[in-house]
Amino acid sequence: MFVLIFIFIITLQASTYVGQSPCSTLTIANCGANAHNGEGWCYWDSLLTPPACVTLPCYLIDEVAACRAGGSLITGGAFTECDSLDTISLEYDNVCCDKGLGKLSHGLVRFPMNFDGYVDSTNNDIPTPISVLDITISVKEMFKLYTINPWLAYKELSESQFESKLKAILEKYLEQSTRDVLLTEPKSHPFYIERTVYQCLQLLRDWTVIHKSSDSLRYAILPKIWSLALIALTRMTKFQPNYYQSHHYIINFAIIPYFKNYIKILGQGHTLTIDWSSFFYNSNGFMMVYSYPPEQFGIINTYTDVFCIRPFQGSTVTYIESENNYDSSFSQIKFTYYWLEGTYSSIDETKVKLFQITDDTSTITDTLVVFTCNQSQRICTNTGNFQPAPPLDGKGQNYFLAPDTYNSLSDFKRAQCILAYKTWTTVCT
Ligand SMILES: *[C@@H]1O[C@H](CO)[C@@H](O)[C@H](O)[C@H]1NC(C)=O
Repeated sequence: MFVLIFIFIITLQASTYVGQSPCSTLTIANCGANAHNGEGWCYWDSLLTPPACVTLPCYLIDEVAACRAGGSLITGGAFTECDSLDTISLEYDNVCCDKGLGKLSHGLVRFPMNFDGYVDSTNNDIPTPISVLDITISVKEMFKLYTINPWLAYKELSESQFESKLKAILEKYLEQSTRDVLLTEPKSHPFYIERTVYQCLQLLRDWTVIHKSSDSLRYAILPKIWSLALIALTRMTKFQPNYYQSHHYIINFAIIPYFKNYIKILGQGHTLTIDWSSFFYNSNGFMMVYSYPPEQFGIINTYTDVFCIRPFQGSTVTYIESENNYDSSFSQIKFTYYWLEGTYSSIDETKVKLFQITDDTSTITDTLVVFTCNQSQRICTNTGNFQPAPPLDGKGQNYFLAPDTYNSLSDFKRAQCILAYKTWTTVCT
């Protein structure tokens, strides 16, 4: 009996618990090898000299135990950088956040991935390679398109392979014969187009963070993602012309006819209303908007998401290759930024700025629009009405609201720093 208890105590002393090992103590053999050794919170970084086992950026961690500190629980191996989330949503994979942040940032939401099927063929009895799939043949072929699985690109190890796999899928959706079906076929639900958009955004972000890819990868893929987002919006105006809105955290979509006069965009901890009731139009049109948290591109501490406005005059929205058929007469915009209670105690209105940002996220300019705020109502509005400038790169008119202190280097955490293409050591430089 005593011997048994003794053995039991010895075993208890010697066992390592899931999430407990700091990644730096692990080797290539056990870094991410099993539940006790790094799986879900460590990864082998072969880009380092010498290569080493390192902790995943907090938002990429799957094992919540690795982020815990204090209390009666074993302290986790990732606790110096990360906290466990108070509430774990089952809708996405995130279980940890950066130390002291206290919440999951919407720009870093990870949808669960599945690795069924193929990245370059449909998933059915006789898979059709992406290059020969012709969805003009039948609705059945259109539904086969949706079985091509972009998530599988995550497993690619070289940047060129990752880029070509994702580009092939996006280009398939964008090619004229395919997109014409997606835009006009009554059974084409916008959700499938939206899904490809958010999958590609998530893949681009996470692959960039893990493999520290260069900005050329973003420049190669992002324009195609935005083109597909515009196709999704265009489809929505036909699918459900009086209103359509959808929310996928890393990207949100909305369309509304001009005659409804305003649209409200939901972001994390804020809403933004775009009101054009002072705009006189001589024929109806559609306001199409997608919005996204810019943190996924290393732009931090903004007040609002980036919102891309695509006004279109005419009763039927057409998609054209050059994508510059927006309504440039659209004007008289009143923005109302509303921040949720607890987000900020007050906002210095002299620091609220409206920035315009290019589609590729590389160029940001101050529009010099002036805002006034009402602290008790927690709203800021632009004085006068806003006339959008011609789009900076011929396509989108993308804006966000931010204090002039956004993107302060000392505020960057590791993943944000990598996404901004800066250098991370223990701080961002
Ligand atoms: C702010 O809003 C409150 C409530 O509507 C109003 O009573 C107050 O006059 C407003 N303050 C300013 C400075 O406009």
